[in-house]
Amino acid sequence: MTVTSWHRLAGTSVLLDGFHALKHAVRFGAEVPVAVAVDRQAALALADELAPDVRDALDALLTEVPEPVYASLVPRPHPTAVAALAVRPSRAARLEQLARTPRTAPVVVLDQPRNLGNAGAVIRLAAGFGATGVVTTGTLDPWHPTVVRGGAGLHFATAVERLGTDGLPPGPLFALDPEGDDIRGVQLPDDALLAFGSERSGLSPELRSRADHLLALPMRPQVSSYNLATSVAMALYHWSLGGGAAGR
Ligand SMILES: C[S@@+](CC[C@H](N)C(=O)[O-])C[C@H]1O[C@@H](n2cnc3c(N)ncnc32)[C@H](O)[C@@H]1O
Repeated sequence: MTVTSWHRLAGTSVLLDGFHALKHAVRFGAEVPVAVAVDRQAALALADELAPDVRDALDALLTEVPEPVYASLVPRPHPTAVAALAVRPSRAARLEQLARTPRTAPVVVLDQPRNLGNAGAVIRLAAGFGATGVVTTGTLDPWHPTVVRGGAGLHFATAVERLGTDGLPPGPLFALDPEGDDIRGVQLPDDALLAFGSERSGLSPELRSRADHLLALPMRPQVSSYNLATSVAMALYHWSLGGGAAGR
């Protein structure tokens, strides 16, 4: 029954790969129609230890399956041997969330990112800082299973969507670029769009031409650039110093 449901839903659902992804998704209100564990008691013991707030929900959700069955459901077994499928939130709901004003926390814009792991790390950062959302331009699917795995299931804690450069949410556009003005002289507003270029080629000409401000992170001469996700971390931290989100 569980396996049949899994196969029926897998094509249209979000794969939650591992205990932590399931924990976060449940905590942030995801609808989870099916969840499996190779050792149900071990998964619940992990919940007792690390996530007592979602223990009862996981107790109701988790079905124990033999290891070969679990392995047949996931692309790559996770050390916790837990997996689940979640309903992907509607695009309309996420667009509404991204467009809502006045905004109390920035939207992160990744301009044509290439690396799925970077995108996941950025979604985790956005969730942690309480950012309004993460928008990607270009071809990368921000709901790809590898991105969801990198984001530890925190796609459900912020609004994640792919958009065209011409369809970005409202708000002043601060684009991060080593050639910009020193970010330390600027207070980032809560309604900012914080844009970052691709790993390979930086900001696209379209996004650069739309930017209201170009900002640089402090960096010693002769170092070309920082990693994309670490750049997002520094910019969100800089914004948070103004008193915005996180524990608010
Ligand atoms: C790996 S870097 C891109 C490097 C790329 N080869 C280039 O030509 O810009 C990815 C993105 O991180 C941000 N970034 C990296 N280092 C930065 C710095 N020192 N100041 C501002 N943004 C930076 C920028 O948004 C950049 O487009």
